[in-house]
Amino acid sequence: MKQLHLSRRNLKRLFSSPSGQRYAKENGSSGGIKCDSELCPVQKPSWRCFSYEEIQKATKGFHQDNLVGRGGYAEVYRGELEGGQEVAVKRLTRAATEEQKEKEFLTELGTAGHVSHPNVIALFGCCIDQDLHLIFELSSRGSVSSNLHNENLPTMAWKLRYKIAVGTANGLHYLHKVCQRRIIHRDIKASNVLLSDDFEPQISDFGLARWLPSEWSHRAVAPIEGTFGYLAPEYFTHGIVDEKTDVFAFGVFLLEIISGRKPVDGSHKSLLSWAKPYLNEGEIESLVDQRLQNDYDINQLKRLTFIASLCIRASAACRPSMNEVLDLIGDGELSAEQWKMPDEEEEDFWGFDDLDDSDTPLLTSSSSSSSSMGSF
Ligand SMILES: Nc1ncnc2c1ncn2[C@@H]1O[C@H](COP(=O)(O)OP(=O)(O)O)[C@@H](O)[C@H]1O
Ligand SMILES: [Mg+2]
Repeated sequence: MKQLHLSRRNLKRLFSSPSGQRYAKENGSSGGIKCDSELCPVQKPSWRCFSYEEIQKATKGFHQDNLVGRGGYAEVYRGELEGGQEVAVKRLTRAATEEQKEKEFLTELGTAGHVSHPNVIALFGCCIDQDLHLIFELSSRGSVSSNLHNENLPTMAWKLRYKIAVGTANGLHYLHKVCQRRIIHRDIKASNVLLSDDFEPQISDFGLARWLPSEWSHRAVAPIEGTFGYLAPEYFTHGIVDEKTDVFAFGVFLLEIISGRKPVDGSHKSLLSWAKPYLNEGEIESLVDQRLQNDYDINQLKRLTFIASLCIRASAACRPSMNEVLDLIGDGELSAEQWKMPDEEEEDFWGFDDLDDSDTPLLTSSSSSSSSMGSF
């Protein structure tokens, strides 16, 4: 089916018209409209439209000094609104086509504008003048990726890593199970989890997110987008998306924060293939980032590696839900017996380097390495 493409002028008209407001409402964003409390008992977050002058002024004309991050689709600038509120202005820059850019924009607006949780980034609004912009709360410490992998920053302490694992699990649980509609993020990774001043993780970047109607078990999407190294096998090979797609990526994310290794690096050995023998043999201490110099909590390590080993199972049905992850991350029993694979299913892992190059689908630009300007 042909995608609806709105010219920039029509996009503007849409946002200023009653039908545009209806669009925002139907897509889960209140857009500043007051909800009738009987029709809409849940307090929805509200966002507003910003003028270009406002964001231009806030970012000092998108000055390079204010550039705090760059992903596959966007550049993000720090800004300060009149009154002192700090914001992050995401300017969509790099989609293949104008249609794709608008699709990403509307997807992110409709999803991020609908959610409200301490471990999910808060949307303040948008601006469609000159370019497409989304305005978020500023995560003052940048992404988990930049904090974990930037050699110029101090090694991230175990306590922080554990806090990030727990907070991200809470955020993902909220998206899957608590907010009004099931949201599949589709791009959970260390550069899309940001850190507040007190290192509270905040899931961000909803450009690829999908709603999942409650009566559907999954949906098939094309093209396959996301980030190599975090993609679940059923999604990578058949485009099948459901909560377990995110659970798989969360497992990779856990291994990344435990080990301090990137999911794929220049060595052609994926994090999963590297970690697999250690998980199989129960040599979990070999997984820990050596920069920690053995300064970690062994019980927490046992919990996180147990959860990671379940989340990265090749069979989606044998992965835990985020409810179960939260239980295990709390004080749930780590019972290998309870989580034993059914006899007909072989305990199996998925390693990206098992694939030939010819098997590699074309990924969107979000699969290119996203860079960050570091913490600020
Ligand atoms: N709210 C924010 N606060 C601080 N930095 C941010 C914020 N949003 C994004 N960034 C930085 O910008 C980078 C790219 O943003 P992202 O939304 O992931 O864009 P893309 O859709 O292009 O991947 C992030 O990895 C992060 O470093
Ligand atoms: Mg991103």
